[in-house]
Amino acid sequence: MDEESRLIRAGAGRKPTAKTVAPAIQRGSTVLLPDAKALYDGTFGYGRSGLNAQHALCEALCELEDAREVQLFPSGLAAVTAALMAVLKAGDHILVVDTVYKPVRQFCDAVLTRFGVGVEYYDARLDADGLLALATPATRLILLESPGSLTFEMQDVPAIAAAARTRGILTLIDNTWGAGLLFKPLAHGVDLSVQALTKYVCGHSDVFMGSVAVSDRMLARAMEDAVHEHGWAVTGDDAYQALRGLRTLAVRMARHGENGLTVARWLQTQPQVLRVIHPALPGDAGHALWRRDYSGACGLFAVVLRAGPDRAVEAFLNALTLFGLGFSWGGFESLAINGDPQFKRRRIPVDYGGPVIRLHVGLESPADLVADLAGALSAYEAAQ
Ligand SMILES: Cc1ncc(COP(=O)(O)O)c(C=O)c1O
Repeated sequence: MDEESRLIRAGAGRKPTAKTVAPAIQRGSTVLLPDAKALYDGTFGYGRSGLNAQHALCEALCELEDAREVQLFPSGLAAVTAALMAVLKAGDHILVVDTVYKPVRQFCDAVLTRFGVGVEYYDARLDADGLLALATPATRLILLESPGSLTFEMQDVPAIAAAARTRGILTLIDNTWGAGLLFKPLAHGVDLSVQALTKYVCGHSDVFMGSVAVSDRMLARAMEDAVHEHGWAVTGDDAYQALRGLRTLAVRMARHGENGLTVARWLQTQPQVLRVIHPALPGDAGHALWRRDYSGACGLFAVVLRAGPDRAVEAFLNALTLFGLGFSWGGFESLAINGDPQFKRRRIPVDYGGPVIRLHVGLESPADLVADLAGALSAYEAAQ
């Protein structure tokens, strides 16, 4: 053969033989099949369906979620929207919690309505009876997020899931706060357990990925078909990173939870603080549900400052040096944002009594984080 041809085939015949702790990453769109018959026997024909690392991650996530099947998506948002697209059709109606992650609301308002799905937002504080009273004969799905985005309202997930099931309504939860570890949605009767693996599972603020876990055979089929029909795919490199993150999820989460509570308790004692919203704190509105259903806490919660002008909120945020200002969470680092500008899109206005700051407490020393927040609270006071 000429050199061009030899260079194209050289080395391609080697099989991976060494067994390593982590899975081998295969990079491939093309999957080479052994013979003509195999081209159409429906087995394993194309890289988009996932290769070694993606399969290893799905298996591990089935273990985490106690699921029959897990599908991967290129982001957490894509996982939520994919699950909705997989089970909804024109004419359906869905009930969406008003404290839902804002881009999910945008998808519901901009895309689902365009495809003829009716969308109604409900108060996160409704119990199962109150919520089911909003259901119509067309209601196909209830979307839960517990604790809710930015303000951490807890929902009675098992009661809502059970009541929905008796009415033939599906439930879907965004369980990113629980990360599949602190709360097990499928074991509590939820049909579709979604999480942004981008956050705690990946854990290092450098990968986007989402997952949908299901127990029911029909739903597993619906999700599999949807993935195939829409063409969602993740790379082997990203799947590898997510699996690597998963290995240390439990130890990182324990530290996030401890550090978060240390910082939250300190904030409760500060004169500039009106209250701390953290379901693991006794006295929080969601504490009883958290105690009943969760095995721990992550590092994400909110602090409500005593009422003050926008310039004081800006002074608070700008004074932080250890907490970064950024919209994500779940990585090893601490982050802060002010939540209030996002509340404008909500349907049910809630007065929290002052500016709401969402904090993600990372793996730094809590003493250093407290010192950083002390400086920011002084700046808040000075800018009144
Ligand atoms: C609760 C929640 N769900 C989903 C997402 C979306 O995750 P991703 O950024 O991977 O799309 C986020 C991101 O901040 C989130 O906070």
